[in-house]
Amino acid sequence: MSQATVTRRYRFCAAHRLHTDQLSSEENWATFGKCNNPNGHGHNYVVFVSVGGDMDPITHQVVDIAKLDEVVQRIVVRRFDHQDLNNDPEFATQTTTGENLVLLIWELLVDHVPGGRLVKVGVIETRDNYFEYSGSSKQVRTGDGVRHG
Ligand code: NI
Repeated sequence: MSQATVTRRYRFCAAHRLHTDQLSSEENWATFGKCNNPNGHGHNYVVFVSVGGDMDPITHQVVDIAKLDEVVQRIVVRRFDHQDLNNDPEFATQTTTGENLVLLIWELLVDHVPGGRLVKVGVIETRDNYFEYSGSSKQVRTGDGVRHG
């Protein structure tokens, strides 16, 4: 059976501020620069969701794109669009870096793709910043759904 990967693009607009309570004000500024501005700032985030797997023998699709869109809109876009990422519960103790955001989107989606399997999530934050995550090779899904690694 042929395999392929399909990637869909999604968008949301959100505010954030790069800051960690584990550093002093001076250290935060030195680390994050203008992204540490207390007023925050916004980005037009672009999210790429890649699903891979066997092509259906009849439809020749890896995943039903309309179903994928419904899942990503419900789980990711509606959660973050026009929100302040720093107020999201998952970021209560995590800095809202692109790295943490792409990992969070992966975790939110990995068990919910409607066919195939999630193979990569990409996040464009700015013209020149792109983050991606393909899962950890240490994370092995077992029959009881528990991950070890
Ligand atoms: Ni930013």
